[in-house]
Amino acid sequence: MIASSSVETSSLPRCTSLRIGDRAPDFSARTTHGEFIMSALRGHWVLLFAHPADFTPVCTSEFIALARSAEEFQQRDCALLGISADSLPAHLAWVEAIHTQFGIQIPFPIIEDPSLAVARAYGMIDGTAQDSATVRSVFMIDPSGTIRSILNYPATVGRSVPELLRLLCALQEVDRAGTLTPESWQPGDRTVAPPLQTQAAVEKAGAKWFFQPAGKTRP
Ligand code: BEZ
Repeated sequence: MIASSSVETSSLPRCTSLRIGDRAPDFSARTTHGEFIMSALRGHWVLLFAHPADFTPVCTSEFIALARSAEEFQQRDCALLGISADSLPAHLAWVEAIHTQFGIQIPFPIIEDPSLAVARAYGMIDGTAQDSATVRSVFMIDPSGTIRSILNYPATVGRSVPELLRLLCALQEVDRAGTLTPESWQPGDRTVAPPLQTQAAVEKAGAKWFFQPAGKTRP
């Protein structure tokens, strides 16, 4: 059953706690770019990011930064998808205000979720929330529809768009090369080899067997 933020919500769990490796729940919704079905994005990477409310300062800063980096996500075959409990008219007014006041076009769709059907299905509700504000959740979903990363930030702290881009690049590199990305890895940096599995491999690798560089990656 496809969840819908604007039509049918009764079949959805009240609140789920998704984990890395789970399938991203499917849903249909109205967005600033028209009707949308999540499963239509299978075959592409998806960055689904929830924000607490339209017309708020931290959210505006995040949207401006995401708009400025949108081409880089697109080059990496990653669709950007915003969501909040605000209505479609509120989203449209906010997008228009960002354009007129700051000269920035928001090039990605923003989902309306007034019933919180999608927010509940994805566990985007802050446990301490007094209202419909969703936590600053980020779901990185791979082309097979599997959740590969989940980030949660409080309403008071903006997310780092360069870090979201780095996360995408790292996941794509891990999939491509079968290696691992170390702390603060950036595209072009060396990756590290996966943990060794046998005593023979450990003996062959020497004293630094638990921390071995892998091959040089492409920029
Ligand atoms: C903000 O984006 O600035 C914000 C949103 C909700 C609560 C507080 C701040």
